Amino acid sequence: MNSESAIEACAAEALARIFEEKRHMASAKILEILPEQDNARLRALARPGAARPVEEVVREAIDTIYNYRVRMDHPHFFGFIPSPASSVSWLGDLLTAGFNAHAGSWMQSSGPSAIEAGLIDWLAERVGMPSSAGGLFVSGGSMANLTGLIVARDQKLKPHERGRGIAYVSDQTHSSVAKGLGIIGFLPDQVRKVGSDGGFRIDMDKLAAAIREDRANGLIPFAVIASCGTTNTGSIDPLDAIADLARAEGIWMHVDGAYGASVSLSGSHRDLVCGLARADSLSWDAHKWLFQTYGCGMVLVRDNDHLVTSFSTRPEYLRDAVSLEEAPNFWDYGPELTRPARAMKLWLTLQVLGIDAIGAMIDHGIGLAETLEGALRARPDWQIVSPASLAITCFRYCPSALDDDQVDRLNDEIARAMIARNVAAPLTTRIDGRTVLRVCAISPEATAADMADIAGKLTLQAEASLRRMRGD
Ligand SMILES: Cc1ncc(COP(=O)(O)O)c(C=O)c1O
Repeated sequence: MNSESAIEACAAEALARIFEEKRHMASAKILEILPEQDNARLRALARPGAARPVEEVVREAIDTIYNYRVRMDHPHFFGFIPSPASSVSWLGDLLTAGFNAHAGSWMQSSGPSAIEAGLIDWLAERVGMPSSAGGLFVSGGSMANLTGLIVARDQKLKPHERGRGIAYVSDQTHSSVAKGLGIIGFLPDQVRKVGSDGGFRIDMDKLAAAIREDRANGLIPFAVIASCGTTNTGSIDPLDAIADLARAEGIWMHVDGAYGASVSLSGSHRDLVCGLARADSLSWDAHKWLFQTYGCGMVLVRDNDHLVTSFSTRPEYLRDAVSLEEAPNFWDYGPELTRPARAMKLWLTLQVLGIDAIGAMIDHGIGLAETLEGALRARPDWQIVSPASLAITCFRYCPSALDDDQVDRLNDEIARAMIARNVAAPLTTRIDGRTVLRVCAISPEATAADMADIAGKLTLQAEASLRRMRGD
């Protein structure tokens, strides 16, 4: 029933459908959630039984299952970190899946491993790390943070000191950092959350004071985690100042650049992130702002040998693959043994689009958020809570005569209505205890005119929501 040629024809049809959807993305539904009554039907569909024609099953996937999702690549989806993935990236996925290389060892994937090693070298150069630097591709920012934190722990704490180790984050640090610290055995009271300043950057005085106090109490400060592009506001911690303090204190500096490290490839904003060069380890997600499909992140370390110290194992059943000592065996650099060739899609994208175009695409996003901020500032009753930084801006519709809780509810309602009407999807976050609208604008498909138009539509929606709230 399902010959290879039937599968090939199906693959061609699926590709055509995906391109078709992409062509009409701007008018597609941004968010579609599976209706409650269909949940049971889809769960039943998950259970396998007798063989079925491949065409029928693929159609089910495309027409039904994948329909219920957020189109993270919709040009007007501004929530979380959107994923405006390049088609070249998923062409890379296709090759990676099709050839199915095992990228754990040189023996099993010397071609893709050479690309991974070369690309890691180039990325490390771009952020200004020394030639001792290295790293590997991982599934995303959470795994990159976990990997960097394991190296920090192993470099800075002796095993018997782990119970007294303290890591420093800010109140804006991504949750994956505390999660990673927990996974590797640190208790919540070993993670010191330091307050941030008015620009959502870690407060250096508070950080230095916390380190002093912890040392005085017999604890061992071992890692400070700086953010380059916080998820809430796109803020960048003072990387140079943190590096100076970390060096002086003998503390590891891990930078979570999952979102913002991509700016080091930008044409005109690179200087914003030049402090990345000082990191001991760095997380960087290609599936955020390098236009890759999911499952593509990198961790870079200042000294590649540190990865080997933490992750290398030499069991007897892998002996045939480790005879080439000088070649990179990526299973020695990170937690995974079997791993796909994740570097290939980023390589393909950089080769096909070229570095200048990628840089311009990043700069474009930075400009979009600035345009939106400017357009909102020109209208009454909008408060800019965090000015555009790395393509993220947060704002709040604040008409007088409403109290803070009413304003919170009003802004929640504005976001919900914009999504329900399929105009745009700004989501909300909480800043300083209040609900704000947040836009992360990194789609190369969105234009400055779109952003000005969205500012107008947001205002109309805000006025309508306010009228409804007042019962007018
Ligand atoms: C700053 C930051 N760090 C880490 C992560 C986690 O990355 P991932 O979702 O790829 O695991 C995110 C995700 O949004 C993030 O914004």
